[in-house]
Amino acid sequence: MKLLVYGAGVLGSYLAHVLVRGGHEVTMLARGKRAQQLQTDGLVIRHYFQRKTTVDEVNVIQTLSSEDGYDLIFVVMKYNDFPSVLPILAANQSSHIVLVGNNADAYGMLNFLNEHCVVPKHVVFGFQLSGGLREESGRIICIRGGGQMILGSLGGEIPFKPLLEQAFQHASYKLTYQNDMDAWLKSHIVPIVALNSVSYLNGGDLKKAAKDKKLLKQAISVMDEGFTVLEKSGYTIIPASPFTFIRKYRRLAYLALKLYHHLPFAKWVDGSFAEILALYDSFEPLKDQSTVATPQWDDLKKRAVARFMGE
Ligand SMILES: NC(=O)c1ccc[n+]([C@@H]2O[C@H](COP(=O)([O-])OP(=O)(O)OC[C@H]3O[C@@H](n4cnc5c(N)ncnc54)[C@H](OP(=O)(O)O)[C@@H]3O)[C@@H](O)[C@H]2O)c1
Repeated sequence: MKLLVYGAGVLGSYLAHVLVRGGHEVTMLARGKRAQQLQTDGLVIRHYFQRKTTVDEVNVIQTLSSEDGYDLIFVVMKYNDFPSVLPILAANQSSHIVLVGNNADAYGMLNFLNEHCVVPKHVVFGFQLSGGLREESGRIICIRGGGQMILGSLGGEIPFKPLLEQAFQHASYKLTYQNDMDAWLKSHIVPIVALNSVSYLNGGDLKKAAKDKKLLKQAISVMDEGFTVLEKSGYTIIPASPFTFIRKYRRLAYLALKLYHHLPFAKWVDGSFAEILALYDSFEPLKDQSTVATPQWDDLKKRAVARFMGE
């Protein structure tokens, strides 16, 4: 199959590796220095737990023209980066698109693509369960168990499931389908903003964050408030277990958070506060609509934003 991975960062790089190893013709859309690194050195990934380094050859493009056709396009980037590429995707002749990453506005993005497309678009939303970071040299450090993506469309059945299955047929990678992907994505935002704020307010020093009892406890309250906002807004919390756990076992949740911040690989999971801020902002209308009191959420957001603005 002819596949495009649009966005050559941490998660897009691992996805491209999986698809190359699955026997497909894979092109990556990369910008500037990243494009050069891929062309010169190939796609270099250090698989942290697997203790191996892989190098793959990929085709590299720097722009997507309207005539370039692909069987599937995976767009893998930060939530706040998606809007700039939606017009380019809409103008392109390919029909099957998977938007991969945190997403608070799946319906908005789908509507944009449907309204502006030159050919009918079939859009699926995904979240790849891996993490890592990109080194200055371009080498990706990839943190994962087995490769896995959670996937779902916004209207019931995935319209191009056979194509997706074919793309991963010979790859060691699991596709997990989710019926209510919008609810899954919204539920996922809650722990993401809380945990990233804890790390951000500690300057990325996770050992320091692990000792910040007050902040860790606040993060648990923030998650409780965020999940309650979603629940009151009519969303199903998916998966339900984190919500149940923090409500029932607060002390255990605190210990689990403390432990997580001590894990050696936790520091290898990269985040960007610009994305977290966009995700925080996406919750404002939901909070207003639900009328749930969110004092801990508001305080954490205010402190993290103040730090961001001061940088
Ligand atoms: N990294 C992690 O540990 C991790 C873990 C769990 C979830 N996630 C989530 O997964 C999603 C993707 O994260 P990531 O870490 O892979 O992000 P990333 O490393 O920042 O990669 C995004 C890539 O998209 C490219 N890009 C952005 N805007 C573009 C545009 N307009 N045109 C072309 N390319 C563009 C960036 O280009 P440049 O190279 O030029 O910047 C970058 O290479 C995010 O929602 C993130 O929160 C990440």
